[in-house]
Amino acid sequence: MSAATRTIAAEARTGGDSPAVPRHIGIIMDGNGRWAAARGLPRALGHKAGAEASRRAIEAAGDMGVSWLTLFAFSSENWRRPADEVRDLTGLMRHYLRHEVGQLLEKGVRLRIIGDRAAFGPETVAEITRAEAVTAANTRLNLNVALSYGGRAEIAAAARAIAARVASGELDPASVNESTLSAHLDTAGMPDPDLIIRTSGEQRLSNFLLWQSAYAELVFQDVLWPDFDAVHLQAAVAEYRRRDRRYGARTG
Ligand code: IPE
Ligand code: IPE
Ligand code: MG
Repeated sequence: MSAATRTIAAEARTGGDSPAVPRHIGIIMDGNGRWAAARGLPRALGHKAGAEASRRAIEAAGDMGVSWLTLFAFSSENWRRPADEVRDLTGLMRHYLRHEVGQLLEKGVRLRIIGDRAAFGPETVAEITRAEAVTAANTRLNLNVALSYGGRAEIAAAARAIAARVASGELDPASVNESTLSAHLDTAGMPDPDLIIRTSGEQRLSNFLLWQSAYAELVFQDVLWPDFDAVHLQAAVAEYRRRDRRYGARTG
């Protein structure tokens, strides 16, 4: 743990009006392709370097005392990429599912996958289920990896599930409220993100945690994802701490 990380973690424990460290950070990990292009490398190597950056981010978040980290690794729209790139990305995913579980166990990380896992086929679904089960007792850091994830699809699926319960007579339509909707999302029971970081200079959500980000603080950084490290995470948290979270209320 670096000195700066230690300071932030120590301050977090002292409490105060606004927690020094966000409870839940979401990251839109963007810029692998541009990182590779800038080096004259194939995009696949950008994605591989991106996976290394994810490992650093997980470590740094744990050291800072963050409880929840959600990494956007593959969007429902990323299926539109050329077949060879999709193959590279899903191959990398499977490799990490198989080989990173030991690391996650060592670091006290509980892994959950959000998104349409079935889209990756039964073999990958089995790997995901296994990785989730093996890490289920870990409590230091809750890690969500969003795979084939799209916020609109997630909300539509929740609406479908609620409609089915209403149709069967199990649920009174008049009782459907925000909590009902939240409880039918992939993130049911999890805190909403306090801070969402996007790298690579793009300033959009690209369908990430649409419902959950209603009051998230957004931080955009120019760094390309493969270059992201603990210092970038600390800078984003420092920016977050300068924000005044009003939730629509008056402050002065
Ligand atoms: C992020 O990097 C990884 C995924 C979206 C899967 P990109 O592949 O989007 O990189 P750029 O945006 O083309 O640089
Ligand atoms: C968003 O990045 C998705 C992930 C980081 C997984 P994209 O590179 O796919 O987003 P757009 O296409 O620039 O909006
Ligand atoms: Mg991109």
